[in-house]
Amino acid sequence: MAVAAAQKNREMFAIKKSYSIENGYPARRRSLVDDARFETLVVKQTKQSVLEEARQRANDTNADQTITCTKDKGQEENYIDILSSDDEQVESLVCAVQEEEAKAEASSDSDGKPDDDDDDDDDDAGLTEEEVVLAKTIAESPDSEHNVQKAALVLRLREGIGSLGRILKTIENFKGTITHVESRPSKKEGLQFEVLVKIDMSRQSLLQLIRNLRQSSALDGVNLLADNSVSIKDPWFPRHASDLDNCNHLMTKYEPDLDMNHPGFADKEYRARRKVIAEIAFAYKYGDPIPSIPYTETENETWSRVFNTVLDLVPKHACVEYQRTFKKLQEERIFESHRIPQLQEVSDFLKKSTGFTLRPAAGLLTARDFLSSLAFRIFQSTQYVRHINSPYHTPEPDCIHELLGHMPLLADPSFAQFSQEIGLASLGASDEEIEKLSTIYWFTVEFGLCKEGPEVKAYGAGLLSAYGELLHALSDKCEHRAFDPSITALQKYQDQEYQPIYYVAESFEDAKEKFRRWVATMSRPFEVRFNPHTQRVEVLDSVDRLEGMLSQLNTEMTHLMNAVNKMKARQFA
Ligand SMILES: [Fe+2]
Repeated sequence: MAVAAAQKNREMFAIKKSYSIENGYPARRRSLVDDARFETLVVKQTKQSVLEEARQRANDTNADQTITCTKDKGQEENYIDILSSDDEQVESLVCAVQEEEAKAEASSDSDGKPDDDDDDDDDDAGLTEEEVVLAKTIAESPDSEHNVQKAALVLRLREGIGSLGRILKTIENFKGTITHVESRPSKKEGLQFEVLVKIDMSRQSLLQLIRNLRQSSALDGVNLLADNSVSIKDPWFPRHASDLDNCNHLMTKYEPDLDMNHPGFADKEYRARRKVIAEIAFAYKYGDPIPSIPYTETENETWSRVFNTVLDLVPKHACVEYQRTFKKLQEERIFESHRIPQLQEVSDFLKKSTGFTLRPAAGLLTARDFLSSLAFRIFQSTQYVRHINSPYHTPEPDCIHELLGHMPLLADPSFAQFSQEIGLASLGASDEEIEKLSTIYWFTVEFGLCKEGPEVKAYGAGLLSAYGELLHALSDKCEHRAFDPSITALQKYQDQEYQPIYYVAESFEDAKEKFRRWVATMSRPFEVRFNPHTQRVEVLDSVDRLEGMLSQLNTEMTHLMNAVNKMKARQFA
């Protein structure tokens, strides 16, 4: 149930509209940072409208009924019998809505302004997201409402462990089968225990149970979990590489069809070509080979111009890691001046080098979707080519930027690890944290500089695929600051001109170390790890999983020790 409801949550709260020219976006080029900010806004609006819809539905159904809500938590325990009719179901929701509205009003009265923070994690009263999800799931597939589902609840006990017996009895009254009970000390001040209860029960009963438990004076709060430590209210994130099939939400603000300033706006043929290539990405599913694009002479010519410029700049300005893999790509005849490489051949090269692979993207993805792919060592790459009239500037990423800017460093083990760690940190992160991660990504992976002895070199893809900004970034017309994630994450991004400030890393290793320390301060209450054997992200929240990881580490330590001993033996032989 929990996973199904989490997916439902994703469907309901995912971005359903795209940024376009109608939104009046004035920037000269795209930025993951702006995307993240926009995403925060849209998610908030979407949640609001879903709640409104649920309220409306509840109100409509009960227009002719008088409903009495008994919400006084000081009242005697009054666990109701299982409700079975739709009307009663709706009644429960209406009560929740009324309580939520009363609370919002009180909050508004207390400080004179509305409370923006209406989805606070500790806010268990009212119509919560999980209830909306459950109610909607029931409404959309009435046949499944009585199917037995698995669910996990965290109950925050107000009165100590003694009240647990009554609560478990209530679960049984709702025809729930308890499969697991586990207590742990509460992190919340004034409370002693939290209890994790895993149950099997119908979705409809579960919804009623949650609502009923929230009225109990014995409980300080109830949370429905999507995993042992992941609240269903936390943002959905992909658990397996195949889940990235759902991570393809586009930002279309720079589409040539929509933006009059786009170099391809007046070129019908170009716009049609972009549509054909986008369709390939829309049809792509995990595990498919990436379809080849027979690039036209014009497209190959655009590539040639940029490729030859980059060739001139690389020896002097690119970091040594970029130069090393760029050369390898040339040696393997993947990077050639006269033709655009196909994504599949580059993906195969990356796979051999660092385990990264590519999947085609139809355009500019939302920041959350884009970052989440990196957790799986998957880079979502466009396949279309910028307009021939503007070979050295493209407002949105195209395959020339992806190939020349990103691919060489994704083949470098240390940089690949850094990219993946940004992706892993993004899984389940709050919208505000996604904005910070996008800003860090922007000032490192896209526009990062690094020290190389006494010199400063470029490693950012946005610099290495755009010579104008590269020369600017390495000139004395801008400021260089030491990379510090806590500061970089808050840096304002200039979207009209070149940046006035760039961040310089001591090395990739140093950047990773600092980044890891910063990630440890994020709000996510769980840790994740990518299992390359299964292509799955694991939430490290059970003894079994930790034991499995420990066993793998022990095996690797044994191999390392054996290698050290053999080398020592050889040295003294
Ligand atoms: Fe990029």
